[in-house]
Amino acid sequence: MLVSAKEMLQKAKAGKYAVGQFNINNLEWTKAVLQTAQEQQSPVILGVSEGAGKYMTGYKTVVGMVNGMMEELGITVPVALHLDHGGYEGCLKCIEAGFSSIMFDGSHYPIEENVAKTKELVAMVKEHGMSLEAEVGSIGGEEDGVIGAGECADPQECKMIADLGVDMLAAGIGNIHGKYPANWKGLSFETLDAVQALTGDMPLVLHGGTGIPEDMIRKAISLGVAKINVNTECQLSFAQATREYIEAGKDQQGKGYDPRKLLAPGFEAIKATVKEKMELFGSVGKANA
Ligand code: 13P
Repeated sequence: MLVSAKEMLQKAKAGKYAVGQFNINNLEWTKAVLQTAQEQQSPVILGVSEGAGKYMTGYKTVVGMVNGMMEELGITVPVALHLDHGGYEGCLKCIEAGFSSIMFDGSHYPIEENVAKTKELVAMVKEHGMSLEAEVGSIGGEEDGVIGAGECADPQECKMIADLGVDMLAAGIGNIHGKYPANWKGLSFETLDAVQALTGDMPLVLHGGTGIPEDMIRKAISLGVAKINVNTECQLSFAQATREYIEAGKDQQGKGYDPRKLLAPGFEAIKATVKEKMELFGSVGKANA
């Protein structure tokens, strides 16, 4: 059964580790993340962007696939199904479809409007036993065609949103989605420290987990980050393994064109990336912690 992300993240924050949010795109992605979480006995969050939800034909399909797969695979570790960067309408749809967690990305609204909409959603998710993530300070980079520059959040605004009763807070600290440019200045630990000082026990979320050096990830966790989002890195691993398979001509040998064979190396590559991240984040073995 899907669970809200609230409890797993509170435990992670208290235990000084982070739970990974791995974005899913299709059946192979979902199966790879769920199986790895079970093998590693790690709690996990399946992230679904609005674009990925649309690609999979809608949120109800996603809920049906994830619930069915968890039952058929005998998944017993805590799993949250989470809308990533949802607009207000998308949040309402996911509440109705049976997600267990949502992110309302109100970072592009003026702070007053972000506050008003977040308040409404706090009340709704409580009613459904779900968790809510809010964002302050836009996370840069490109995701689903939306490009933003890596901002640093205003710690006072973070406190204002945290106090509304959200379960986790994404604060921009110079992080961006996708690959980091060569001239990236790194995470702003000064901002993170200031945000944590004002928001206390609130689990903080680090978006743009792809390509952040390991020492920065560890430091971010030590400063209150309890959820780290990874998307692009699984896509790169999948693409590379699939390319190698085809470049080696394996799709033309025997029944190598069978999608169950053709997609197998990419599937294994996602599993390896997810395992590596779970080890780095410290969530391995924490399923029942
Ligand atoms: P990356 O694609 O950079 O890993 O970021 C993922 C993310 O933050 C999803 O919200």
